[in-house]
Amino acid sequence: MVKIGILGVGTVGESVAKILEENGDIIEARAGKKIVVKSGVVRDLSKKREVDIVLSDNPSDVVDDPEIDIVVELMGGVEEPYALVKRALENGKAVVTANKALLAYHRYELQEIAGDIPLMYEASTAGGIPVIGALRTGLSANHIESIQGIMNGTCNYMLTKMINEGAQYDEILKEAQDLGYAEADPTFDVGGFDASHKLLILASIAYGLDAKPEDILIEGIENITQTDVAFAKEFGYEIKLLGIAKKVQDENGESGVELRVHATMIPQESMIAKVDGVMNAVTVVGDRVGETMYYGPGAGGDATASAVIADIVDIVRGNQGPMLGYKKGLESGLRLLSKDEI
Ligand code: NAP
Ligand code: HSE
Repeated sequence: MVKIGILGVGTVGESVAKILEENGDIIEARAGKKIVVKSGVVRDLSKKREVDIVLSDNPSDVVDDPEIDIVVELMGGVEEPYALVKRALENGKAVVTANKALLAYHRYELQEIAGDIPLMYEASTAGGIPVIGALRTGLSANHIESIQGIMNGTCNYMLTKMINEGAQYDEILKEAQDLGYAEADPTFDVGGFDASHKLLILASIAYGLDAKPEDILIEGIENITQTDVAFAKEFGYEIKLLGIAKKVQDENGESGVELRVHATMIPQESMIAKVDGVMNAVTVVGDRVGETMYYGPGAGGDATASAVIADIVDIVRGNQGPMLGYKKGLESGLRLLSKDEI
C-alpha cells in the first residue's frame, strides 16, 4: 500500500481524494498497489468538506510523517509551498504538484533538491491535458520549434461567454471562480500571469529555459471589451489569450527563443479559434514530427485531479523521470530574446 498526504484539500485536493476512492479499483490495477490518502492539510478546519479524510492545519503532519510516501501539494502560493515541498523532498518523499506559480519561480532549485526522488507536475500545465508527458517523453527525439496555445481555462471561458452570450466581464469572472477554474487571486488568470507560468514550465522542458515571469512579455485580457469582441467577430476573428514560445532568428541571424503571453486575433476557421469554454489547446511543432496538438479541459477539480493521479500512478510504477527535460541552460545556440526585442 502507498500512503499519500495532501497539502491543500480545496477544489483539486477534494477531487484527488474522491477519485482515488471512487476509481480505486482501476487505479490500483494500473499502479500495481493500493493508493490511500493518509491525511490532508487545510487552513480552516471548521469548513465543511466533501471528502472524509483525516485533516490537520499543521503541514508538518504531512511533510514530516514517516508513514507518508508521496506528498501532493495543492495549496497554491509560492514561498510557503516551496518550503514545504523542499522539506518533503529532503525527508525522502516523492512530490506531485499542480502549482505552476511555485514552478515558475523555483523549478530548477526543486529539481536539484529532488535529485533522484520523483518530483512530478503534469497538472501544473493545461489542467487535464497530458501535454507535459507528451513533451517530456513523446517528443524527446525533436528539437522544438514552437509551443503555442490556449493555456488558461478561466480566460478562455470568459472570452467565449463574452463572444457567444454577450456576458459581462465581472459576472463571468465570478462564474469561473464559482466553478473552481480561477486562481485564489484571479488577477493571475486575467492578467496573463498564470498562462506565463505554464509557458515557462513548457519552455523549460523544451529548451532548458531558466527565466522568470518578469523576464517575458505578459499581457492579460482585462482591457478587452465587448466592442473589441464584436469587431473581431465582424471581421472573421476570435480573440484568444495565447502563450507562445517560438524559435526565431534575431537581426544578426542568430537563433533565439521568444516567449510571450497576450490576446490574439485568430481567424475563425483555424482550429484554435474553435476551442471554447474551459478547454485548452496547445500546439507543439517538433523538427522531426511536425505539428502536434493537445486539447482538453484546462481547469476544474476532476480534470486537474486526473493529471495529479496520473503522476502518482507513474511514481508508484517506478517512473523516476526528471522534472525538466533539459538541465538548466538554454539549448545550444539559443538565447532568450528580451521583452524589448519582441
Ligand atoms: P483552492 O480550492 O483554493 O484550495 C486550496 C487548498 O489549500 C484549501 O484547502 C486551503 O485550505 C489550503 N491551503 C491554502 N493555503 C494553506 C496554508 N497556508 N496552510 C494550509 N492549507 C492551506 O485551490 P485549488 O483550485 O484546489 O488549486 C490548488 C493548486 O492547484 C493551486 O496551485 C492551483 O494553481 C493549482 N491548479 C488548480 C486548478 C484548478 O482548476 N482549480 C488547475 C490546475 C492547477 P482551506 O480550504 O481551509 O481554505
Ligand atoms: N486558473 C487556471 C486556469 C487553473 O483557469 O487555467 C488551471 O491551471
